[in-house]
Amino acid sequence: MKISVIGQGYVGLSLAVSAAKVGHQVIGFDINQNLISNLKEQESHVEGIELAGIENYIPTNNADDLINSDIVIIAVPTPLDSSRHPDLSFLISACEIISSNVKKQALIINESTSFPGTLRDLISKNIEDSTGLNHLYAASPERVDPGNLLWNQKNTPRLVAGLSDEATEKAADFYSSFCDHVVKVSSPEIAEAAKLFENTFRQVNIAMVNELAQISHGLDINVREVLDAAATKPFGFMKFNPSLGVGGHCIPVDPSYLSFAAENAGIDASFIDLANEINLEMPSYVANRISNDVGGLNGKKVLVAGLSYKANVADLRESPSLLLIDALEVLGADVIKHDPLVANTSPIVTCDVAILAVAHDSINKEALINSAPYIFDCTGTLTNVEGL
Ligand SMILES: NC(=O)c1ccc[n+]([C@@H]2O[C@H](COP(=O)([O-])OP(=O)(O)OC[C@H]3O[C@@H](n4cnc5c(N)ncnc54)[C@H](O)[C@@H]3O)[C@@H](O)[C@H]2O)c1
Repeated sequence: MKISVIGQGYVGLSLAVSAAKVGHQVIGFDINQNLISNLKEQESHVEGIELAGIENYIPTNNADDLINSDIVIIAVPTPLDSSRHPDLSFLISACEIISSNVKKQALIINESTSFPGTLRDLISKNIEDSTGLNHLYAASPERVDPGNLLWNQKNTPRLVAGLSDEATEKAADFYSSFCDHVVKVSSPEIAEAAKLFENTFRQVNIAMVNELAQISHGLDINVREVLDAAATKPFGFMKFNPSLGVGGHCIPVDPSYLSFAAENAGIDASFIDLANEINLEMPSYVANRISNDVGGLNGKKVLVAGLSYKANVADLRESPSLLLIDALEVLGADVIKHDPLVANTSPIVTCDVAILAVAHDSINKEALINSAPYIFDCTGTLTNVEGL
């Protein structure tokens, strides 16, 4: 089968390679010319994805290559706009590209995360309106967890639902070619809502544990010990760890898609909005706590180690470390940034305060502990220092 994947970012490239490895002919289309030039040189930008030796994968900027696709998969960004509302412009532009270039009936699958109704009311309408080809449509939201060595595209169950039974069956057949567990659900709206709820569940639980970190500090008890104690209960409890907040392309963004859908339906999603607020405020909580501990930060040298949004990935999108740096600078600190995974950052240097924001394996923890008289650990990795 000829499979075309629109968007060769984290999700699209991983999917394209999985499909190519099981023998499909795969076109990887992206509007980013540098990205495609690198992919043509077999330079992958996704940790753990190797392109050498994969012959039936063709990266391209040329939309003509989408012609005669049997399956077209959309894997473009679905971020928030400046008002923190869904920005669907990439999805709409992907629809325009499909309308103009896919010239025979195809199965069109959306993997981009969006609110219930996106496949039915936005994607299928935008494409059908301009072509009348009667494509088949399915939703299969991607669940990949960057950097997770245990769960990958093969062993993570995949939700699939089409706008028709035929679309569901064809999409399930396709994913079964490289994924062990395909779960068919009754409508695309169920799959879309499940994806948003999975990430909202994380957002809300992380916010709750971050609130507990603040309460525990106020009560002068160690939050990590409280959590370890609670986690000895073998049922009805799931452990989440305190942190500087949530980052990346999914957890800080997807709940706002659910909240937006709720608002459109006239329902107040106050729980989701509150969780979002608590997580967004964590960097300034940490900056203020440190400032109180050291008698103010004005003019002090503060090293922030770990800039990306989570350990062992280089992705800076929505990273709470960046909000922490802003909050420290507002308090007058002279911030030094250290991250072995991010280009052009400083080595660990002597300073007044050192903060472990994200615990990459490649950060030298001993050097960090010795770099300053006051250390703050947001990750629970270091012992005998202040922290969350
Ligand atoms: N990254 C993750 O961990 C993850 C996990 C699950 C779901 N998702 C979801 O998957 C979707 C894609 O995320 P991602 O992380 O791969 O994004 P990304 O930013 O890494 O990649 C998206 C790619 O799409 C390209 N693009 C944008 N508009 C295009 C168009 N009209 N035609 C062709 N290419 C276009 C961009 O140039 C970019 O290379 C999003 O909806 C995201 O929420 C991401």
